[in-house]
Amino acid sequence: MAERINIAVIGAGVIGKRHIDEIAHNDACRLAAIADPSPEAAAYAEALNVPYYRDYREALASGDVHAVIVCTPNHTHLEVGLACVARKLPLLMEKPIADDLDAARTLAAAAATAGIAMLVGHHRRHNPAVRAVKDAIDGGRIGKLVLANIMCLMVKPDAYFEVPWRRQPGGGPVLINLIHEIDLLRHLCGEIVSVQAVTSNEVRRHEVEDSAACTLTLASGALANVSLSDTTSAPWNWDTTAGEDRALFDYRPVPTHFFAGTDGALTLPDLALWSYRGKKGRDQPIHDTHLSCVAENVYAAQLRHFLDVVKGDARPMIDGHDAARTLAATLAVVEAARTSRPATPSLV
Ligand SMILES: NC(=O)c1ccc[n+]([C@@H]2O[C@H](COP(=O)([O-])OP(=O)(O)OC[C@H]3O[C@@H](n4cnc5c(N)ncnc54)[C@H](O)[C@@H]3O)[C@@H](O)[C@H]2O)c1
Repeated sequence: MAERINIAVIGAGVIGKRHIDEIAHNDACRLAAIADPSPEAAAYAEALNVPYYRDYREALASGDVHAVIVCTPNHTHLEVGLACVARKLPLLMEKPIADDLDAARTLAAAAATAGIAMLVGHHRRHNPAVRAVKDAIDGGRIGKLVLANIMCLMVKPDAYFEVPWRRQPGGGPVLINLIHEIDLLRHLCGEIVSVQAVTSNEVRRHEVEDSAACTLTLASGALANVSLSDTTSAPWNWDTTAGEDRALFDYRPVPTHFFAGTDGALTLPDLALWSYRGKKGRDQPIHDTHLSCVAENVYAAQLRHFLDVVKGDARPMIDGHDAARTLAATLAVVEAARTSRPATPSLV
């Protein structure tokens, strides 16, 4: 392999441009191609002086590509992912791995069978604050986890809904936003075994939900509540509180994710750790301290990990199988809300 890893970005929309920006700032790789049929993408590639392809298959066949970042709409992930696997090109597939579970299983199996590394872009796992909380929970700092409480409460501007699919089933906050919370919960707290959920479209009155209340049971026996809405004027959502993309979102570092255990409690993203120094009890003083961590650009960290994966120096932190399980648990929320009954995430 050449000294620099040549990366093709397929789909140069919102997140594709973010990846392209990170590639430009990493000396270990270079942008070898942009593939995207839109005229905006053609003009963007020309401005960057980067080889441009309308058809992504021509970029994959160019012979000048070592790895691929796929940032196309969800319904294309299976087709584009399979084409990368067929060309034996390792890939970073944006989340969700696919738009349904059969497609997710097919893609995960194809990559595994061919021995092609696929990292799925659940980027929060690369956040140092998430790493610090994972270490603390795994290290027993809060004892046995009893309950997690997660808020994903925001307001999306009216212009967001001008695109028809965002007003229709599948285009709402469950499949767009909750999937990030589900992945984070699985990563920090373990598998989800049962899901109860209620959704509502009370405010926007679109066909798709605008809000949801979910109660999840984890394999450890712990419970989790997730409150979700894209119609609330609140700061309590990861994009606003974690500061991962301050060009796109306002930044207010208040806690949104609460993890309570028998011996202590933790919050994200502010990394507060609460515990008793002596006797436990609500009549006793409870103290807070903060876990330490060095903040870093999470998309840059994800790219560095992907380059290690491409070189064969690391296994994907989230592979196709893992990402399919996150999708299965998210789809179980849809099912539970539809049937008003508890749902079990499908086996992957
Ligand atoms: N990790 C994250 O936080 C995050 C954030 C945003 C989006 N995403 C994911 O990234 C993907 C893209 O989302 P987006 O918001 O950037 O969408 P977008 O609509 O802004 O961009 C998608 C781009 O893909 C192009 N495209 C469509 N079909 C194509 C094809 N067959 N070949 C090549 N290009 C094609 C479009 O022309 C467009 O430029 C989605 O899967 C989304 O879920 C992830």
